[in-house]
Amino acid sequence: MDLSFVRPEFPALAQTDAQGRPYVYLDGPGGTQVHQSVIDAMARYLVHANANSHGAFLTSRRTDETVAAARAAMADLFNAPSTDEIVFGANMTTLTFHISRTIGTLLQPGDEVVTTLLDHNANVAPWLRLAEQGVLVRQVRFHPEDCTIDMDEMRGAINPRTRVVAVGYASNGVGTINDVAQVTRWAHEAGAWSYVDAVHYAPHGPIDVQAIGCDFLVCSAYKFFGPHEGVLWGRKEILEQLRPDKVRPASDTVPHRFETGTQNHEAIAGTLAAVEYLASLGRRAGEAFKHEYPHLMGRRLELKAAMAAIRAYERALVWPMIAGLQAIPGLKVWGIIDPARAAWRAPTVSFTLQGQHPAEIARRLGDEGIFVWDGNYYALTLMEELGLEAHGGMVRVGLAHYNTAEEVQRLVAAVRRVREA
Ligand SMILES: Cc1ncc(COP(=O)(O)O)c(C=O)c1O
Repeated sequence: MDLSFVRPEFPALAQTDAQGRPYVYLDGPGGTQVHQSVIDAMARYLVHANANSHGAFLTSRRTDETVAAARAAMADLFNAPSTDEIVFGANMTTLTFHISRTIGTLLQPGDEVVTTLLDHNANVAPWLRLAEQGVLVRQVRFHPEDCTIDMDEMRGAINPRTRVVAVGYASNGVGTINDVAQVTRWAHEAGAWSYVDAVHYAPHGPIDVQAIGCDFLVCSAYKFFGPHEGVLWGRKEILEQLRPDKVRPASDTVPHRFETGTQNHEAIAGTLAAVEYLASLGRRAGEAFKHEYPHLMGRRLELKAAMAAIRAYERALVWPMIAGLQAIPGLKVWGIIDPARAAWRAPTVSFTLQGQHPAEIARRLGDEGIFVWDGNYYALTLMEELGLEAHGGMVRVGLAHYNTAEEVQRLVAAVRRVREA
């Protein structure tokens, strides 16, 4: 499968250095590049629809229509039962603090919340905050050898006092995909809600909140080719029980009661365009995957097919990349490295190289026009547990569907040069 036909649709990918060499964007886990249709939709919104919501005039009506259409698009992306279950907000972190604080009003001292040491801190700190009111927050460990969650410990941590289990769909630190459906089943057996952080997973595979069975799922459009906008899905019966902070004149209906203040309408317009871009990818490249989703139709089917096509394409790139990196003496790839377990790995590859500081490696690659992250990228407890926090963390190389085999080769050759210098 070849998705390189999409590259001209991402204008940033045409940028070159002074020698005319195209930049290599492997920083997608920190934020992907943006599709042209997203840029156009944001500009169009600001010219033709820029207004506050719920007014009696044209541009305000257009704003309301844009937000409603974006909710429907996100409901389709997640296969959510209702568009009323989609909440927009600044970003995943802000939405998660908002929800954890709101759930916190229902909790008693001695109630418990479970999260993991593999998670991004945005799915840890908001829950740890509840410890200040006497909630016990358990942080489940992971196996250091392959950076997978210790599922026995997870099973044991969830008990009748558990109220929320907060878990990442995929690790932004090392790419591990977690069995969030299993964790959700355990949470429900105990009478707890499950809160899934899908920020890292969203650009890499299909999401179906009904198949997972979870109660909340949250992500950020800037990780899936859109603008900086957070999106939360919450089960309607639960959203209706929650009483978030809000100002008196604002609507108390769901989902509006969760959307504090004036929203970032242009980013919501861009989020809608990002989902529509993915649906178009489903029409153009997803035909071979549609049979996997016999229960879906229309845009929901196109979106699943697109994400399945992206997953297949990225898998074909990532395993040669892992092999190429591992062949470099002194280089260690963290996380799952067995291709037989490909189903449990996102195409995000983090490594350390003996004798070289991650920041220095990232700087040297950056000098060659290859953009990668270094450090902990807020997967703080992951780095602490592995003893890497004091040594600059890891170097993270993140593939997206607009990356190519040629770029992977350029990266591996450049890392080899760093090693040999
Ligand atoms: C796995 C994961 N969760 C949460 C976040 C935080 O997302 P946001 O920047 O939207 O607050 C990130 C950001 O990198 C992430 O990778």
